[in-house]
Amino acid sequence: MLNAVGQAQNILLLGGTSEIGLAIVNEFLSRGPARVTLATRADSPRIDAAVAEVKAAGASEVKILDFDATDFDSHPAVIDEAFAHGDVDIAIVAFGTLGDQEELWQDQAKAVASAQINFTGPLSVGVLLGQRFKAQGHGTIVALSSVAGVRVRRSNFVYGAAKAGLDGFYTQLGEALHDSGAKVLVVRPGQVRTKMSASAKPAPLTVNREDVAAATFKAVIEGKDIIFVHPAFQLVTTAFNFIPRQIFRRLPI
Ligand SMILES: NC(=O)c1ccc[n+]([C@@H]2O[C@H](COP(=O)([O-])OP(=O)(O)OC[C@H]3O[C@@H](n4cnc5c(N)ncnc54)[C@H](OP(=O)(O)O)[C@@H]3O)[C@@H](O)[C@H]2O)c1
Repeated sequence: MLNAVGQAQNILLLGGTSEIGLAIVNEFLSRGPARVTLATRADSPRIDAAVAEVKAAGASEVKILDFDATDFDSHPAVIDEAFAHGDVDIAIVAFGTLGDQEELWQDQAKAVASAQINFTGPLSVGVLLGQRFKAQGHGTIVALSSVAGVRVRRSNFVYGAAKAGLDGFYTQLGEALHDSGAKVLVVRPGQVRTKMSASAKPAPLTVNREDVAAATFKAVIEGKDIIFVHPAFQLVTTAFNFIPRQIFRRLPI
């Protein structure tokens, strides 16, 4: 359970090498040591760096779990293992891929693979986490959504459609858990400077992963259910809803 200063005892990061996910873990560790579980593909070249990063940030113990977002049958065992040491205070769903958006909408196999990583995988672990959090009656599931999923745009609609699905699922998972004591926080960053966005065109209102982490920590402590990391996105995405499709199509975003 989080204590008065927001110190966690057990943190689970699904997408255990995600730069944003690790920044969120570090933000919690800055309030005091915690046991950290990194659920990540066994062949990821980034595992050693992720372990070193959370140890340097103050993790009292680091456990690695083999996790593939699209190996759905393995997910129940992964989540069982993640809870083997007891309750999880913060579970962060941070895996995902961006990919080449112009290729994705024209390549059926690649589009299906992208949707499985960005939507079906998060739904699969979300159902399992939901049952665990409902039973323990406390803690927060943090789901990394995106502004791209709030109004899906022509420029990245395969990714955006999956994020829209993820966003809808986790928003309503929060509603379903409303009376349980557990919470769900949906985080909707715009572009964030990480490996994932390194080859994307520079976008307005881009933030650093530390900004996502600070906003996420604050929102968890305040018990919020949805946040836009850059405050301007709240207004921008509201405005999107009033722009007719014929004009929206011509915007350079
Ligand atoms: N960066 C942005 O601009 C931005 C903006 C809005 C939202 N987001 C969202 O924030 C989340 C984290 O992104 P990030 O910027 O931290 O990206 P990142 O550093 O590239 O992290 C992506 C993570 O997903 C994992 N992953 C990819 N495919 C997987 C699979 N099949 N099974 C298991 N893990 C898999 C990667 O593991 P490996 O080490 O094995 O590759 C890595 O841990 C994502 O959901 C992303 O959509 C990012």
